[in-house]
Amino acid sequence: MFTPYRLRELTLPNRIVVSPMDVYSATDGVPNDFHLVHLGARALGGAGLVFTEMACVSPEGRITLGCTGMYTSEHVQAWTRVVDFVHERSPAKTCLQLGHSGRKGSTKLGLEGTDIPLDEGNWDVMGPSALPHRPTMQTPRVMSRRDMELVRDQFVRSTELAVECGFDMVELHCAHGYLLSSFITPLANQRDDDYGGSLENRLRFPLEVFTAMRAAWPAERPMSVRISATDWVEGGVTGEESVNIARAFIAAGADIIHVSTGQTSPDARPVYGRMWQTPFSDRIRNEARIPTIAVGNVTEPDQVNSIIAAGRADLVALARPHLSDPAWTLHAAAELGYADQWWPWQYRSGKQQLERLVERRKQT
Ligand SMILES: Cc1cc2nc3c(=O)[nH]c(=O)nc-3n(C[C@H](O)[C@H](O)[C@H](O)COP(=O)(O)O)c2cc1C
Repeated sequence: MFTPYRLRELTLPNRIVVSPMDVYSATDGVPNDFHLVHLGARALGGAGLVFTEMACVSPEGRITLGCTGMYTSEHVQAWTRVVDFVHERSPAKTCLQLGHSGRKGSTKLGLEGTDIPLDEGNWDVMGPSALPHRPTMQTPRVMSRRDMELVRDQFVRSTELAVECGFDMVELHCAHGYLLSSFITPLANQRDDDYGGSLENRLRFPLEVFTAMRAAWPAERPMSVRISATDWVEGGVTGEESVNIARAFIAAGADIIHVSTGQTSPDARPVYGRMWQTPFSDRIRNEARIPTIAVGNVTEPDQVNSIIAAGRADLVALARPHLSDPAWTLHAAAELGYADQWWPWQYRSGKQQLERLVERRKQT
């Protein structure tokens, strides 16, 4: 886990990734001091790659009123502060996740429960078909070709703004039932035009968006796509199909696939457990020879090492462990006796004490 990893011209110092996590703390989409301290602390904490939360490409593309955006000059200024801090103060790299909420938009902040529409001031949501995500949620407007072009152009604009900010990498969010994911899953997409039906058709719009973003993103910088590799629902996307989804994005210029699952339907019956989504990453990486990021209930350094060493993923993302411990990577390095791990020079005495304590514990 402490070996570097290269994607195009980007070299990550290690294989640990801070997974994208929405903190629902923005106003008008603008990241603030909380985002700077939150993401900055995790960069200082030793992870090789720090993801932002899903930044939305338009006001209507937000999930909640607390979500961040990337569509105004204020957003550019605020995100640039985060990127500059990470680059100036740590060896970590940073990836902007871009997305659109689609039919799961216009809901309360995550901490108030998921998928609950606002009490007032709801905005209209859109999706591939007139099917609500839950009966209690809004029925989306069926997207026209014009809507698709508009949203594609919003993704491109946000990508251009990400270049201005100096992000090292951009990820297209095609997972968890948000707009692009809802095109991919037949549970949400029942269109009878070129954008529904076969997998090829269901992928058409997400691929159009990705291809347009790729053209706007510098050739030397990598791009990732996050997918839900299964819906965990009979008749939905399966692990087998996800290999072809990954292949399609790689053929369009993606460098790595970030393999999550589910959150596309309330009928899902996921099988939870340690490293529970890693088999999906393993399958994509080994059947299609595609670089992957594994994520999901990975909590121990030994688990990360076993995933990397067994060739089940190239990078491992941890979300909740980074909420309880921003310096997860620094602690893992001390625990494993990896003394070459970078620490902020300001924290050197903490490194020495921790390494001494670990050594002493191992001797008793
Ligand atoms: C508070 C919170 C916010 C999240 N927000 C996002 C997000 O913005 N984009 C995304 O792709 N996943 C999001 N996720 C999912 C995580 O990135 C990750 O896939 C999931 O938590 C499983 O990893 P873990 O078991 O290490 O927590 C979020 C998870 C949490 C806990």
